[in-house]
Amino acid sequence: MKNFFLGVLATLLLLVLGGFGCLRLGLAEVRGDVPASRLEDYLMRAAVHAAVRRNAPELSNPVQPTDENLIAGGKQYRGECAGCHGAPGKQNKFPHALNPSAPQLAVVGTEYTEAQVFWVAKHGIRRTGMFANGAWDSDQELWTLAAFIKRMNNLPQHVKDELENKPKSGE
Ligand code: HEC
Repeated sequence: MKNFFLGVLATLLLLVLGGFGCLRLGLAEVRGDVPASRLEDYLMRAAVHAAVRRNAPELSNPVQPTDENLIAGGKQYRGECAGCHGAPGKQNKFPHALNPSAPQLAVVGTEYTEAQVFWVAKHGIRRTGMFANGAWDSDQELWTLAAFIKRMNNLPQHVKDELENKPKSGE
């Protein structure tokens, strides 16, 4: 019995050392233009989603989705986020130049709540192109962005017009 456990331990140790050796020998695929394997993709996605769910505050958005706030959030989104995440009717032409790619939020939306969007925007996601915007944006601005992102495809006409700089009807 003792030998059996020693055998299991030795195998585990070999696996860990072997894995580490592969990394140190440069055998890991690190090129951004080679798609990640299904396993890597699944593991990373699951880890990020679980961490966001665990850590994001369970708050409702303190910023109300008034037209004024949605316009402010939309302008900020256009300046800071749309280059990677696209905007309604305007997708990023090269989303896969980033690996993992930046989800085209206007097309796929997000399953995160507003509080989770706020948390991701504030802290960023390590080892992806997703910045920690909290370095330069206030919490108030990030909540305003979250309110906009969740409604990006369902904006009141007046807000859409403002963001597209269309003159108001009757002017
Ligand atoms: C340089 C490119 C880049 C910019 C600019 C950027 N992001 Fe991201 N963002 C990413 C990438 C890449 C991911 C995917 C990370 C992953 O797969 O874990 C991401 C993921 C996200 C997610 C998670 C979406 C989901 O459903 O999984 C949110 C929310 C988000 N970004 C919000 C923002 C906001 C808000 C801004 C602007 C303040 C912004 N991002 C700016 C690259 C960017």
